[in-house]
Amino acid sequence: MSCCGHCRDANDFFSERTARGDLKKYMRRGPDKQTNLLVESIRKTGINGKTLLDIGGGIGAIQLELFKYGISKSVNVDASTAYQAVSKEEVSKRGLDAKTEYYFGDFTSMAPSLPEADIVTLDKVICCYPDMKKLLESSIIKAEKVYALVYPRVNLFTKIGFRLINLWFRISKSEFKTYLHSPSLVNEIISNQGFRKISNQKTLLWQVAVYKRGGGNRKTE
Ligand SMILES: C[S@@+](CC[C@H](N)C(=O)[O-])C[C@H]1O[C@@H](n2cnc3c(N)ncnc32)[C@H](O)[C@@H]1O
Repeated sequence: MSCCGHCRDANDFFSERTARGDLKKYMRRGPDKQTNLLVESIRKTGINGKTLLDIGGGIGAIQLELFKYGISKSVNVDASTAYQAVSKEEVSKRGLDAKTEYYFGDFTSMAPSLPEADIVTLDKVICCYPDMKKLLESSIIKAEKVYALVYPRVNLFTKIGFRLINLWFRISKSEFKTYLHSPSLVNEIISNQGFRKISNQKTLLWQVAVYKRGGGNRKTE
């Protein structure tokens, strides 16, 4: 991985302790609310036999859920060694190794060498990366059919919450930072690549948006 201070400190932040805690929670209660909304919306597009590219997949909740509903293969790209290790362990326990591939690093640097997939997901990832446009554009072109993401809403709770989180990172001398992005800008970037929004759900803090290829305002340049 070509590593900037942000990515290096992100790797420290998404530690083994966090990863094990997330897996434990997932095993007890299943995916969190916003991930569940994402999975259910993707499922409705018809996913049997389809392939998945999950960027910043963490412990791999999306791939584990979509395997239950018949996807044929999952490629998982993450910049956290701890999350990937924990995810791989769980995949092995479930006998899914042959259907799963892992790549470690910053997706935007690795994108040209990564495969395309029917479904591309980014669950709470663009809020952890400084160059949202680059991350979106380099991942959208990998999506053959469905592009789905969870990202923070911009409201009083997230504005205050993200400020406090970033203050804590600054005090801890970490270069890692979280980002709130304008939903209309996110939507514009995705639509400009020829995708149309088929569902948009909200929780108090998160926006869950699913797009299908075809019908957006694809830029011809
Ligand atoms: C907040 S966690 C979310 C994990 C999981 N998707 C979930 O919802 O539980 C963000 C994840 O995105 C990964 N990540 C952030 N930017 C990335 C990038 N540019 N390339 C690959 N992974 C990235 C981090 O390493 C981390 O695992």
